[in-house]
Amino acid sequence: MFRMWIILFLLFASYTIAVYRNCDEKDVTVTNPDVHALAGWKVWQRNNCQSCHQIYGLGGYMGPDLTNVISDSGKSKQYLQTFIKYGTGKMPDFHLSDSEVNNLIAFLHWIDKSGRSKVPIERVTSTWNYNFSK
Ligand code: HEC
Repeated sequence: MFRMWIILFLLFASYTIAVYRNCDEKDVTVTNPDVHALAGWKVWQRNNCQSCHQIYGLGGYMGPDLTNVISDSGKSKQYLQTFIKYGTGKMPDFHLSDSEVNNLIAFLHWIDKSGRSKVPIERVTSTWNYNFSK
């Protein structure tokens, strides 16, 4: 029994090392959140935004992942402010003040700088050899 635990631990440790050695740390500048981002984080938690939205894929799935919504070129600051302030038929209106909305935007800016939620296609490698012609 003890030997089985040792084997399981070694498997766990080697898998953990393999995963962390390949993690993508390039282009990631980890900074502490400023006062606005911190205030926005509180608004995020108080209104439980994560029950419907994911950050890095974690959270509810009713709304989209918001990790990189700020750097999405198709979505302007006004678009996000309006969305958060008034909601839609599917997203509730939380009756937030303008400063709460702006703090949420600062929070989303800070999250955006922490990395990418999707793996860019050029970083996807495979060693499989599929034959799609069959
Ligand atoms: C009850 C679930 C729910 C909660 C809670 C919720 N949202 Fe949403 N949110 C949605 C849905 C659903 C959409 C997509 C709506 C649509 O397309 O009409 C959305 C869309 C958004 C978008 C636009 C995303 C895009 O890519 O266009 C932003 C920004 C956003 N939500 C921010 C927030 C913030 C900030 C909070 C917390 C204050 C929050 N949401 C709480 C359900 C929710």
